Amino acid sequence: MYTQAIDLAAQGKPEGGPRPVTTSPELQAREAAFNARIAQDQKVEPQDWMPEAYRKTLVRQISQHAHSEVIGMQPEGNWITRAPSLRRKAILLAKIQDEGGHGLYLYSAAETLGVSREEMAEALHSGKAKYSSIFNYPTPTWADMGCIGWLVDGAAIMNQIPLCRCSFGPYARAMIRICKEESFHQRQGYEAMLALCNGTPAQRAMAQEAFNRWWWPVVMMFGPSDKDSVHTAQASAWGIKRITNDDLRQKFIDATVPQAELLGLTVPDPDLRWNEERGHYDHGPINWDEFWQVVAGDGPCNRERLAARVKAHDDGAWLREATLAYSQKQAERAARAQGTDRSAA
Ligand code: 3HC
Repeated sequence: MYTQAIDLAAQGKPEGGPRPVTTSPELQAREAAFNARIAQDQKVEPQDWMPEAYRKTLVRQISQHAHSEVIGMQPEGNWITRAPSLRRKAILLAKIQDEGGHGLYLYSAAETLGVSREEMAEALHSGKAKYSSIFNYPTPTWADMGCIGWLVDGAAIMNQIPLCRCSFGPYARAMIRICKEESFHQRQGYEAMLALCNGTPAQRAMAQEAFNRWWWPVVMMFGPSDKDSVHTAQASAWGIKRITNDDLRQKFIDATVPQAELLGLTVPDPDLRWNEERGHYDHGPINWDEFWQVVAGDGPCNRERLAARVKAHDDGAWLREATLAYSQKQAERAARAQGTDRSAA
């Protein structure tokens, strides 16, 4: 259903070509070859020449995406010990583990661009690198687990399916697997919401209350409106971004409203109306002040999330040191064995 909403072929490509970013004749020739590759919708691979700004854009986006996956484990991790049944606990554990895996694929994809895991971790821990605003909201009830799966992962799929066709090969390939897993995440969330909405009045009220809290942050999660999105034009020209923030937001709202209706939930937006002429839902104003406040580090849980991440990193120092020492020992043994072989020959 999310895939069907994103018919790239029907929408055509973004207008305009990549802006020139180099000056010397040799670089211009290389850039022309790079632009031709983008125009032909061929993948750019790590060993290919690429403009420095393209590389930087990808490092920024992929590393922030990886950070979001890893920080995103926290709001749900909060419920592992309190899941209402063994079945729910097993599903939640599997899902959170998947998110950690997504972080790993994405850090690996970013590393192919010449940035190290340490540099990326340092940028996150120092507050220099962003991660998704959505993970700075609290999860006080079990219905939050349903809402995260249904809405947050639903929004993530909407945003990430176009990234499977991103021009940078390692990112595009990582996204294919990630989207398959996100699809399971979205369905388990919706199924958890369905169970609550078919339950007691108190369970239905819990579902509605959580939905009320998550709706607007999820709508904001697609990023600033197109007029305020500083990266969209260039990222679209480079084939990194295929659909703009506002268009994805609209697709998400159009897909999600009928799902809420099926659950018997009320969307917390008094201005929400189906617009026959546009063939889309119109929605009320988005509180961009809240969005930018959260992005700037001042949301309900920003400090808590970052502190927990830094602590987990510090607590894991012994493991990183031990792994490094072990691999060094293995390398030394292999070198010694090779030396022995040579002297015996
Ligand atoms: N939270 C935090 N910062 C955000 C944001 C959000 N929801 N949306 C936009 N921003 C930031 C941008 O990073 C940029 O800041 P920067 O220049 O310091 O990097 C600034 O706001 C301007 O936004 P733009 O629209 O110009 O930026 P982009 O063109 O990069 O678009 C994006 C933003 C749509 C998030 C894009 O980067 C993207 O598609 N990223 C990959 C997907 C991703 O990271 N998703 C995050 C959620 S992952 C997830 O949900 C995990 C899953 O398991 C649930």
